[in-house]
Amino acid sequence: MQQALRIPVSGVEAIDSSDALAHAGTFRPAKKSSVTPQPAKSETRGLPLVIRDLRKSFGDNEVLRGIDLEIPAGQFVAIVGQSGCGKSTLLRLIAGLDKPTSGTISFGDAAARPEDVRVMFQEPRLLPWARVLANVEVGLGRDRKAEGAHDRARQALEEVGLADKREQWPAVLSGGQKQRVALARALVSGPRLLAFDEPLGALDALTRIAMQRLLERVWADQTFTAILVTHDVSEAVALADRVLVIEEGRIAEDITVDLARPRQRGSAELAALEGSILGQLLGPGGAG
Ligand SMILES: Nc1ncnc2c1ncn2[C@@H]1O[C@H](COP(=O)(O)OP(=O)(O)OP(=O)(O)O)[C@@H](O)[C@H]1O
Ligand SMILES: [Mg+2]
Repeated sequence: MQQALRIPVSGVEAIDSSDALAHAGTFRPAKKSSVTPQPAKSETRGLPLVIRDLRKSFGDNEVLRGIDLEIPAGQFVAIVGQSGCGKSTLLRLIAGLDKPTSGTISFGDAAARPEDVRVMFQEPRLLPWARVLANVEVGLGRDRKAEGAHDRARQALEEVGLADKREQWPAVLSGGQKQRVALARALVSGPRLLAFDEPLGALDALTRIAMQRLLERVWADQTFTAILVTHDVSEAVALADRVLVIEEGRIAEDITVDLARPRQRGSAELAALEGSILGQLLGPGGAG
């Protein structure tokens, strides 16, 4: 039986840091606020996540009203929902950047360490006075003084295709390059759960698609559990194994995206899924 370990939330260290043929069973909305047990991927170093009756209020504002969720190790989950519904709040709780009002968040692994959980934000949050390589080393936390730190940072930069920029200053990089440095910084410690809070929101359409492919590739290579908050439903269905829709502080829909990768953007299947989720988000009469 899987052992659940509660990681003290305050102890989690944060960094600033194909086909187009439709087939049955692709789109499977689940029951409201359901916990959907799904098999873990066979070879993964990802952390599983179990959330029980999670609630978070800010004063009288009850933002999360009982989130129940199980994410198997290595799964790629996207979270969508209207602005202000509590997506970032949920990520912050998962990453230990804030404390729940009640409920529990646990990782089913006794060996989970605080540095196993990382978050990447919309803004790259690079240190302007440090070169690219040093910015990536920041992601190593206490280990950045350890032997091999430079090599690990170099490797992470290589993973995101920026090995040749390691001696540059952040100011000379493009927006997409800065986000790739931020991704390298998030990857360098070898996280087992990586949460993304609209990391591609500020990028132009082409750069965004390139970054989506990069995210998918590093997730497939490194087999962490990925939780992506996004406003872009097409991004959610292109990348995720599963899309959660948050409404009124609860998981209103839990949709499995059972399509082979790499997925073909613009395919009829993705478009149908996207339309259905958008319809849910916009409410009655809003989708047309
Ligand atoms: N530190 C805080 N103090 C008080 N209220 C907060 C705090 N953080 C979030 N909130 C409130 O919680 C609610 C949810 O905010 P959150 O940032 O999680 O929404 P979101 O779904 O991420 O929205 P968006 O899509 O616009 O990023 C909002 O009403 C917000 O004002
Ligand atoms: Mg947000």
